[in-house]
This record gives sequence, C-alpha cells and structure tokens, in this order.
Amino acid sequence: MTTATLEKPNSSTPVVSAATVRKPDRKVNLVGFDLGTNKSCILASQAGATDIALSKIVPTVVGYVKDGIVDGIIAGNASILYGEDALKNFLHVNLVAPLENGVVAHPEAAGDFFRHLRILVDPSGTAELRAVIGVPANAEEEARENIRGCAAGVFDRVLLIPEPFLAALGYRDDSRLNQPNYVDPVTNSLFVDIGGGTSDVCLIQGYFPSRDDQICIAFAGDAIDGLIQAEINRLYPGNGISRQTVREIKEAHSYVGAIRKPTDVKVIIGGKARMLELGETIGQACNTLLDRIYPALTTLITRASSDSVVQLLQNIVITGGGSQIRGIDTVLQKRLADDGYEAPKVRLAGQDYKRYVAMGAYKAARAARENQWQHVLD
Ligand SMILES: Nc1ncnc2c1ncn2[C@@H]1O[C@H](COP(=O)(O)OP(=O)(O)OP(=O)(O)O)[C@@H](O)[C@H]1O
Ligand SMILES: [Mg+2]
Repeated sequence: MTTATLEKPNSSTPVVSAATVRKPDRKVNLVGFDLGTNKSCILASQAGATDIALSKIVPTVVGYVKDGIVDGIIAGNASILYGEDALKNFLHVNLVAPLENGVVAHPEAAGDFFRHLRILVDPSGTAELRAVIGVPANAEEEARENIRGCAAGVFDRVLLIPEPFLAALGYRDDSRLNQPNYVDPVTNSLFVDIGGGTSDVCLIQGYFPSRDDQICIAFAGDAIDGLIQAEINRLYPGNGISRQTVREIKEAHSYVGAIRKPTDVKVIIGGKARMLELGETIGQACNTLLDRIYPALTTLITRASSDSVVQLLQNIVITGGGSQIRGIDTVLQKRLADDGYEAPKVRLAGQDYKRYVAMGAYKAARAARENQWQHVLD
C-alpha cells in the first residue's frame, strides 16, 4: 500500500516521539486486530518476520465466573474466561459482550478482552506490541477514544483505521497487482460489510473513506435475529427458544429473494422436539436487511465520479457474516441490473471473510512508518 493511504495521527491523542521511548533491545510484535461485535480476529508476528505467527478468531465475549462455583468446575479455577471458553461455560459465568453496535459499550470487559489477546500474542509479556485496529467506518471521535482507552497498558502503540478500508486491503490479492486485468479492490470498489451490529457500505477509492464515502446502518445480523424471534413468539407463544438458538436457526436457513416454503426447522420446546415452519419468517427478516442496505448502495454509487463508476459497478464485494445469507449476491446484482445500472457484478468475499479486516490491519501494520504509530498512554 502507499503511505499516502495511512491515517494522520490525531491531534487529541498523546503522541510521543518514537525516538524518546524506543528501547532497542525490546522485540517488536506487529498485530492486525479486527474488534468485531460478535467475533474478533487477531493476526500477529514479530516485526521483520515473513510468516504470521498467530492467527486466531475469538468470540468477543468475556465470562466472569459467578460466585460460589465449586472448585474444579472451571478449568484452573479461573475467575475470568474468554471467547469460546466463556460461551461453553455459560451456566457458570456472567457473559459480557464488550461491544454493541460496533463500538465499545463495556470498557472494563473490553480492557479484559484486550489483555487476554495480548497474552496470546506475547505470552512473555516483554515485547513491544504495535496494533492496527479496525474501527467502524463512521466511528465518532468518542468511539475511537474508547478503543484507545482500552488499548492503553495493553498495546504500546496503535493505529486506528476504518474497517471497510482494511477489508479491501485484506481482500486484495497482492500477487496479482501487476496483472493488467486485475481490478485492485483498494483502488475502486464498493464494500458491503454485514456484521452482527452494523452493516457498513463504503466506497473504497485508494484513500481513507471520508464521511461521504460511507453509510453505516444499525441493522445487521443481530437485528435479523430480533425480527425472527419476535415472529416465532407471535406464531408459537411461550416457546422459550433462546436468542442463541434463533441465531443458529438463522445461520442454517438464511436466504433472500422469493419466499421458500416450507422450511421445517426442528427445535426443542419444553424438552420435546417440534417442527416449526419458518420459511416465510426467515425470508422476510433477511429480505428486510436487503431493503435496508439497497438504498445505501445506490446512494454511494451516485456519489462515485462518472469516470470511476463503470469499473466500480464491476467490483461490489459483500463481506462479514451476512455475506453467508444464501442468494444475497445474486439478488443484489439482479436488483441493480433491473434498476438499469450498467453491468453490475456483485461478488462474495468468500469463506475467509472473517479474516479480511484483520489481514488488512496486519498489512497496514507492516507498512506503517515509525512516525505514524501513536503511543497510548495510561
Ligand atoms: N450463514 C449465515 N446466515 C446468516 N447470517 C450469518 C451466517 N453466518 C453468520 N451470520 C451472521 O453474521 C453476523 C456476524 O458477522 P461478523 O462476524 O462479520 O460480525 P462482527 O464483525 O462481529 O460484527 P460488527 O462488524 O457489526 O462489529 C451474526 O449476526 C451471524 O449470525
Ligand atoms: Mg465486523
């Protein structure tokens, strides 16, 4: 990437000249960090290394072990569990999701989560850690400040970069950049990142997206779960199905487009198996997402310059967990074509969608100049 694409240090952040604090004997680890509402991804290696030493996806959740749990129930009698361990022990912990709608909602839990990640990257606790952290495209200064606050005392230096830009950077196939027919997603693309808390639609045209280049919609996977659960409760009162089960049902049967009936789903209610017909419920909830995203897409297409728009229409990429909704690429592409847009091409980022933001962050960490890193001070 070119240095021109990187962020300028923010004037309100304490920035200390690198030369005054750098201890030459300390190892430097570079970290790419996607802090997601549902799942986080972290990639890390030592500065100068060619291979990624750590690549991990961790559910963004902290479990505080409840008082009075008998010894031996929780491995190592730990008092705080993280990610999968916290979810597995849900009966014995108070689960806290540090983020809501893409931003830090519980700073203490976020701080604990960051400390856990630090130990994964650097078990010795002695290395200097420099992390590029993705932030939602429209993050206000307060949201950015909250992330810096959580990073203080955990990472030594950070750089916050908008997530859609990092997704494009991560998705970019660096080995094909010299091929004449390769359209570099960082140069000209429209990224649609459908996560748990937010759906972000963003024009990527070689520089950091500005406010006008992006639209963040507070409707994504969690909101679909909410619609499906409300409809199940209406159709089958007193069912007691948990939000987690609703999410699993959605992930197994999600689709957009024409309503598919019947879609029989087996659930356990009061200990007994029942088949529920949820074809219409799931289809309508997922189509609602599409209806919310589509106007954002066309608004941003209108904002692209007339010179770039034809190529842009060829490079619409859907990423995030919502990209797994069956038919989302073809239905969006057809809607654009039916509305008269010139030869639109909508593609899915693919199975690696969970890692693209972190991969972009890691690439940005490797490319960052010494004076672009910001120190985070306690
Ligand atoms: N097969 C699927 N069908 C529908 N939704 C899915 C599927 N797989 C995952 N999801 C949904 O994707 C969402 C999580 O996406 P992702 O991991 O990109 O979110 P995140 O990055 O943690 O959140 P955010 O970007 O909002 O901070 C969840 O709502 C999840 O249920
Ligand atoms: Mg995300």
